[in-house]
Amino acid sequence: MTQESAFTTRSDVSLTSRPISLQAADSCLESSVIPLQPNQQRGLSAEAYTHSDYLKQERQTIFSQYWICVGLASDAPNPGDVYPTEAAGMPIVLVRDDHRPAPENTHQAGILRAFHNICSHRGLQIVNQPCNVQGHLRCPYHSWSYKLDGALKNTPHFGGYYRNTYDGFDRASKGLIPIRCEQWLDLVFVNLSGDAPPLETYLQPMIERWSGYDLSLLRREPREITLHCNANWKLVVENLSASDPLSWVHPALNSCSRMEDHFEFELGDTHVGQGSLLYKSGVLKGKTLPTFPHLEAIGKQTVAEYITVFPNIRLGVHPDYFLVFTVNPLSTDKSAERMVFYFVGDQALAPENEALRHLTIDLWKVTNDEDIDMIERLQVGRKSPKFDGGCFSPALEKPVYRFQQKVAQAVNSSLSIRSNP
Ligand code: FES
Repeated sequence: MTQESAFTTRSDVSLTSRPISLQAADSCLESSVIPLQPNQQRGLSAEAYTHSDYLKQERQTIFSQYWICVGLASDAPNPGDVYPTEAAGMPIVLVRDDHRPAPENTHQAGILRAFHNICSHRGLQIVNQPCNVQGHLRCPYHSWSYKLDGALKNTPHFGGYYRNTYDGFDRASKGLIPIRCEQWLDLVFVNLSGDAPPLETYLQPMIERWSGYDLSLLRREPREITLHCNANWKLVVENLSASDPLSWVHPALNSCSRMEDHFEFELGDTHVGQGSLLYKSGVLKGKTLPTFPHLEAIGKQTVAEYITVFPNIRLGVHPDYFLVFTVNPLSTDKSAERMVFYFVGDQALAPENEALRHLTIDLWKVTNDEDIDMIERLQVGRKSPKFDGGCFSPALEKPVYRFQQKVAQAVNSSLSIRSNP
């Protein structure tokens, strides 16, 4: 099947006005209702989740043109640290240089750079596991080496036996290929196309909303959660974006964060959010973890908020911790998830608080395990010839619809917006 026949290209991916009669009936839900007529919206086609051409388009558009979080600065904290990663299957390496002073408010010396993780000689993946190197990166195939700023250093025997070069060899153009790379807090983002707005501009809606939290207090928890899911990356993001299946799929979570205590909010074109009004911190032997200061002043003592930043990262802030959840496509029906936790202040990471920290992480582990079965069955459902894109609750699934619409716009394909018979 060709790309064109698999994905109908349409320009009418737009929202229509909600009828006045329905607006009146649902006035109490005004802030959380999709301004669409019920039954007039359908989601992305099955091919968007199953066809390799669609993923190829997503690589060229979404994962090349937007800011993509590919790792954490603390993954490569020391000079000479090297961390291989990827964005939608495209190999990338983060390299921390060894002769720059530590940026203000960090313990990490040396500038962190991102490169395409391929040798300029024959294209070998240069780094396949995190490591520390002394002054240069060496390709194991023919031993070309690169300085930590990416410049090509040595090319043994490239001009013939015991001759490392030849007349006219353009050494300057054969360094590692750099990728635009910026950092917010501990998060490292890349923009492969190089022409996205500055990262802080991109993240500004989230930065502003959470400006009342002192995020400089965040300390990374050593334990993290990594998952592999037999489903398309979009299904994972969509699952993160809606709280409606909470009571059925997550009975444990629902007992401490009820579905009806949840709320949704929008922050511009690329951020969607949800939250819970009655977040309860974990308690062990009467103790709780340290919380952000001044929560009362900003009215967030019991509030947890989550923001999904397009395309594939979800951030969450709670009174006593912050989480980062990234989703990376491995193939059309496989994705990798990584969940990293940050607690508040040095004392939170003290050994005596480990059990409390693990209480939080264990709850997320249970929640993720409960999700995975549902997400993988959503993937199976997309093999059916009768899947038509599904439909959305106008009250509760607005973020999912928005996400699918954003994907469709980005890859210039279609959302099948049409009336039911
Ligand atoms: S492929 Fe790297 S040195 Fe030849």
